[in-house]
Amino acid sequence: MSTEKHTVRTIQEMKDRGEVITMLTAYDYPVAKQINDAGIDMILVGDSAAMVVHGFPNTLNATMDMMVLHCAAVARACTRTMVIADMPFGSFQYSIEETMRNAARFVTDARVDGVKFEATPNHIEKTKAIVQMGIAVVGHVGLHPQAVGALGGLKAQGRTVETARKVVSEALALQEAGAFAIIFEAVPAKLSTFITKKLRVPTISIGGGPGCSAQLLVTYDVLGMFDTFTPKFAKKYANFNKLMAETFAQYRQEVIEHKFPTDEHSYGVSDEVMYEMEKEFGKAE
Ligand code: KIV
Repeated sequence: MSTEKHTVRTIQEMKDRGEVITMLTAYDYPVAKQINDAGIDMILVGDSAAMVVHGFPNTLNATMDMMVLHCAAVARACTRTMVIADMPFGSFQYSIEETMRNAARFVTDARVDGVKFEATPNHIEKTKAIVQMGIAVVGHVGLHPQAVGALGGLKAQGRTVETARKVVSEALALQEAGAFAIIFEAVPAKLSTFITKKLRVPTISIGGGPGCSAQLLVTYDVLGMFDTFTPKFAKKYANFNKLMAETFAQYRQEVIEHKFPTDEHSYGVSDEVMYEMEKEFGKAE
């Protein structure tokens, strides 16, 4: 495993060599460090932070300040893994200039390697503008969780001719606009395989099936730390919630039973110091 920091070039080279690219989400330093050290190629600091870390019902409550803080912590941990910031709702929907400023803030204040946003045909000019600033952009087609209100729920996209055409044409337009990779969320596997063969840039699947160039999952799903909502595409590799529940119960029990702390976890002091304390303040009952 190479220790070289991933860039748009090395990610493209992996796709060209036919190597599968691995990607997870992260929101803080310790988890990002484990992901980096495990050799995962890319991290998305997703606006899923609003749900899995902050307890909001959807991603719409993520803010620039919230995301910059998470991104900065993640970026400090990543010596090898490429870090992509997810632009939150309201940070790229208005003017091109405001979108450019917000993208730049992720690079200057959080030191990420690129940004991603839920791009519709309205965002092609914004993608071009950010790429022209020199910032790497990841596009995102298929299911847009930020559009949960308009969609009436988080449903798979591209299962009709009309919506499949939308997914394919948006992906092609994003590549043309300069996106260096494109996320396919909750898109039929055959459709993502079809687009992956048509595109030059890597495709990233989160519910896009095995034919994409990269696989992405939300880390809290992988670790079994988020039970509120589990999409069809999520796979739980561990049960950290169970582990935490057992650990916290054990801690509580030991404290209640005076089994913790023992001398092993306490600081010592000489008899002389205690003698002087008793002399000055009187004996403790
Ligand atoms: O916020 C996030 O984790 C995402 C992925 C679901 C693509 O945007």
